[in-house]
Amino acid sequence: MTTLRAVQADITTLAVDAIVNAANSSLLGGGGVDGAIHRAAGPELLAECRALGGCPTGEAKTTRGYRLPAQWVIHTVGPVWHGGDQGEPALLASCYRRSVEEAVRVGARSIAFPAISTGVYGYPKAPAAQVAVAAVRAALAAHAGAIDEVVFCCFSADDLHTLQAALQPG
Ligand code: AR6
Repeated sequence: MTTLRAVQADITTLAVDAIVNAANSSLLGGGGVDGAIHRAAGPELLAECRALGGCPTGEAKTTRGYRLPAQWVIHTVGPVWHGGDQGEPALLASCYRRSVEEAVRVGARSIAFPAISTGVYGYPKAPAAQVAVAAVRAALAAHAGAIDEVVFCCFSADDLHTLQAALQPG
């Protein structure tokens, strides 16, 4: 059984095998959680990212974590919110699914997610939390036994409540 839990934290401090970065398609850094991860990991992270040649929305690519406690960083590119009828839910679900697949591929057994797309990219938080939990549960079901723990890392107390509500059964 995989444990799913929500915590309020700075994702760069978490001692999990892999953290997920809410990146942009250049994979060359930015603000928000992306900026925090690059600052904490150090310049070697950007050097490895440069070699990846970018990443399409909904996809994920993995690097090492360098100075982070996490061994791996899974960079995924969430959709920009355009009102919800431009495929945003399916693209956001794909970010979570592909990130779980990357974790399984590299042998990471614990993984922490930020609230992808809910900052600069403007995805409303409650529907994003529903998509996150449903997509992670579906991906875990397809890889039974591969992952021990999934952490939904929330930056604010409000975001923590939103995620906890999405994790409630029913
Ligand atoms: N730890 C955990 N969560 C964080 C942290 C942190 N250190 N910092 C911010 N958050 P955003 P997006 C939360 O804007 O919407 C970047 O410039 C934040 O409160 O980081 O996917 C990229 O380069 C919010 O809930 O990502 C892209 O250009 C969540 O992380 C663009 O922003 C996501 O907010 C991606 O936008």
